[in-house]
Amino acid sequence: MEDKEVCCCHNVTVNDILKHIQEGVRDFKTLQEKTKIGTDCPPCKEDNELLFKELLQRDISK
Ligand code: FES
Repeated sequence: MEDKEVCCCHNVTVNDILKHIQEGVRDFKTLQEKTKIGTDCPPCKEDNELLFKELLQRDISK
C-alpha cells in the first residue's frame, strides 16, 4: 500500500507523503508546494487531502 501512487500527474506515492510528514510537513498546502500533489485535478486533491490528514493523524498519535 505504501508505494501506491496517489497522484499520477506528479508521481506521488503514499510513501512520499509519509516521508514529508516525517520531515515535518503538517499541512496539505505545504505538501502541495513540495510535491505538487493534487494541483492538477480537483477530485484527487480532495481525496489526497483526506489521505494526508489520516496519515498525519496516525503519525502524530504514535
Ligand atoms: S492525480 Fe495528480 S493532480 Fe490529480
